[in-house]
Amino acid sequence: MNDIGNVDYEGLIPNNVDLAHDTRVKHALERWHPGYLDWWNDMGPEGFQEKLVYLRTAVSVDPKGWAKFDYVRMPEYKWGILLAPQVPDRKIGFGAHKGEPAWQEVPGEYRAMLRRLIVIQGDTEPASVEQQRFLGKTAPSLYDMRNLFQVNVEEGRHLWAMVYLLQKYFGADGREEAEELLQRRSGDPDTPRMLGAFNEKTPDWLSFFMFTYFTDRDGKMQLEALARSGFDPLSRTCRFMLTEEAHHMFVGETGVGRIVERTCQAMAEAGVADPHDVARVRKLGVIDLPTLQKKANLHFSLTLDLFGSEISTNAANAFHAGLKGRFREERIDDDHVLERGTYPVLRLKDHKIVNEDVPALSGLNMRLRDDYVTDCNIGVSRWNAVIDRYGVKFKIKLPHVAFHRHIGEFAAVHADADGNILADAEWEKRRDEFLPSAGDRAFIESLMQPQYEPAKFAGWIAPPKVGIDNKPGDFEYVKIA
Ligand SMILES: [Fe+2]
Ligand SMILES: [Fe+2]
Repeated sequence: MNDIGNVDYEGLIPNNVDLAHDTRVKHALERWHPGYLDWWNDMGPEGFQEKLVYLRTAVSVDPKGWAKFDYVRMPEYKWGILLAPQVPDRKIGFGAHKGEPAWQEVPGEYRAMLRRLIVIQGDTEPASVEQQRFLGKTAPSLYDMRNLFQVNVEEGRHLWAMVYLLQKYFGADGREEAEELLQRRSGDPDTPRMLGAFNEKTPDWLSFFMFTYFTDRDGKMQLEALARSGFDPLSRTCRFMLTEEAHHMFVGETGVGRIVERTCQAMAEAGVADPHDVARVRKLGVIDLPTLQKKANLHFSLTLDLFGSEISTNAANAFHAGLKGRFREERIDDDHVLERGTYPVLRLKDHKIVNEDVPALSGLNMRLRDDYVTDCNIGVSRWNAVIDRYGVKFKIKLPHVAFHRHIGEFAAVHADADGNILADAEWEKRRDEFLPSAGDRAFIESLMQPQYEPAKFAGWIAPPKVGIDNKPGDFEYVKIA
């Protein structure tokens, strides 16, 4: 056995939480395991469960070498429970309990709030697996297929991570919640997943890349905030999940980037200069940039809804209680208590969008969302650098935060991508300028033909610059035969 530090990798459930000596939790998890496998077999990647996939598995929490790569059948993936190492003498960094020792047990007064935070995070993890379950059938390459499955098994592990916390710290209620996490289904009219964006469809690979870019990044922001939690086991769990999450956003950023690259390349080869000449660009068998922009508008706006209302008592309470902090809390230069001070929030007043200072505690969702938008723009500027490199006159731009919203201040109005408020009739008339139309969706779908040969890529996406785990270009990431 190789050196994997303090991780017990031999049993049914690899872990670094000493499950072997925690028989109550070990049994609870062993009882949950068959239900999980049933869920994975029903709702996981359809048509590829028996294939060997070149996957990384977390085998350590050492930042220098936490994963190993090997061929695995997905149902045999080792979904482990791994917490980042305990920080000695860790103190709560914010809120009413700032400076007190971090909690190793659930503080009784906050039990319900904490359970809710864990269940909501937990619910998103299996949801995305469900949303993405048919994509293997149209994978543009074995490389991309492998990345999809990697994201899927890791979202499965994130569910395990949250279920461990529920089983270990929340007794009978925790067991019940763990069961329900396996019962809800993305998009089901009777038992949907808890959050809107996780009930949308992910019907094609452009959607998948946009989802991993925008929606997994919401996951990153939530995990960053929960990694500051005064409840130490939650903090440690989230810190390790963030290690895996980075790859999901890499898949999204480079996936969209490779589509942009291929489109610009095809335009250059064919001598098409006008990116808005959609018909000519589409004839080249690539995705035109205006459609790509519309897909970004859709996924960005759906994801903004995940941050909740701009002004939120729940967010204020969770911060005050020391359960959920801010993005990079420790780097912020203020008192970390926020009983005084304000935060500027965009609001709808008399049908106009105005900036208003609200108490800092009430504006925490807005603040996390602002940090998210900043983070999103980093990848967008990389996409634009590719477009620039080809001399194409087009700039991808994130839409205004009031655009296409279903939660918060702007749910009541329609706005265009620049944030101008539109009358309902005008919105109906112009909707297809901003969001993918039925025709756009049909075009994208027409491109979704599988390419399962090693070293080959569908015509609408450029190959990656480097392989996974430094593998050569013709590496067989998934053994299809
Ligand atoms: Fe996740
Ligand atoms: Fe993720």
